[in-house]
Amino acid sequence: MAGNERTKLLDGLSRPLRDLRISVTDRCNFRCRYCMPEELFGPNFQFLDRDQLLSFEEITRLAQIFVDLGVEKIRITGGEPLLRRNLPELIRSIAQIEGVRDLSLTTNGSLLAKHAEALRDAGLQRINVSLDSLDDESFGKINGRGFQVKHVLEGIEEAAHVGLQVKVNMVVQKGVNDQDILPMARYFRDKGHILRFIEYLDVGNSNGWRLDHVVPSKTIVELIHAEMPLEPLSPNYFGEVAARYRYKGSNDEIGFISSVTQAFCSTCTRARLSAEGSLYTCLFSANGTDLRTMLRQGASDMEIKEAIVNVWNRRKDRYSEIRLSNTSGLHRTKLEMFQMGG
Ligand code: GTP
Ligand code: 5AD
Ligand code: SF4
Ligand code: SF4
Repeated sequence: MAGNERTKLLDGLSRPLRDLRISVTDRCNFRCRYCMPEELFGPNFQFLDRDQLLSFEEITRLAQIFVDLGVEKIRITGGEPLLRRNLPELIRSIAQIEGVRDLSLTTNGSLLAKHAEALRDAGLQRINVSLDSLDDESFGKINGRGFQVKHVLEGIEEAAHVGLQVKVNMVVQKGVNDQDILPMARYFRDKGHILRFIEYLDVGNSNGWRLDHVVPSKTIVELIHAEMPLEPLSPNYFGEVAARYRYKGSNDEIGFISSVTQAFCSTCTRARLSAEGSLYTCLFSANGTDLRTMLRQGASDMEIKEAIVNVWNRRKDRYSEIRLSNTSGLHRTKLEMFQMGG
């Protein structure tokens, strides 16, 4: 049955459901200005209570249903997912679901050195670590907590050491960390980790995004190419978010995620499950579909499946493509990225 449904479940723009990003918490120990600025998300902000979060059993049950509907890639996100207690237990349960071909996690790296081995033992295959600068002063400002670079680097090295595949994500903001582009490229090439540059996005309502804060990937490619020549690589699979390049004459890879200047909505196969159990069909959605209430009111797998199929069949989101022709950013109330699961 799963096989048949897999080929049939397409959205309103004929895109299959292939990836699920699961947020396990809305909390974070950083306060990156572009995501959770301290003045808006300080000590008085009401994050979700424990009973509002999906339990591991609830997440695993939903993950199984999504896999039955065609999902092959699962990514655990947050907030900062390593703040969720006993996370390896959840990883272990999801890793055991037949049909999950790719299980990964996105983290700020601050607690990674401590948890990498347990995550690997539980069945995690790979990890994406966010790091926006190698300079303590600028990184401390970006993360809003004065957190030092070396702890994140230790996390990255420990993850690689225990055998996790590692990618490093750098969100580039003009005038904030564009001076760090070349040092980051040199450092991670030397270390043998894939670095990906992410165009700064107008997610949420809090970061005061403007198009002129974005450094287009093309500019970054040219900057790096002038010092270390690059050549493009073909995508690993349909719908891959990053455009891949390698340093000429080597197999060292580098990537560019150009959500603003080269939107990739036409191949977007991602669904997002928030920490409180709502299903979102776009990073820029304002409204989700509450699956937690269904779960807690005793809905059967079949009923939940039907609800998801209905949502996916109706899906026509293409926010980033629409933004391309309306570059001031579209004015709508969106959910914050840390609430939905970046
Ligand atoms: P891989 O499977 O390793 O390629 O990971 P990924 O790039 O899908 O996941 P990751 O969490 O590392 O995402 C990196 C960044 O890509 C996010 O912070 C976003 O900026 C961007 N991104 C990922 N998915 C989407 C999406 O569906 N839409 C948009 N607009 N941007 C996305
Ligand atoms: N634009 C681009 N990327 C963002 N992230 C968080 N907020 C933004 C934004 N406004 C990134 C994090 C992390 C990933 C999950 O999302 O740095 O790498
Ligand atoms: Fe935390 Fe990531 Fe948001 Fe920074 S971008 S505040 S690390 S969730
Ligand atoms: Fe997918 Fe929405 Fe991002 Fe477009 S803007 S790629 S539809 S999540």
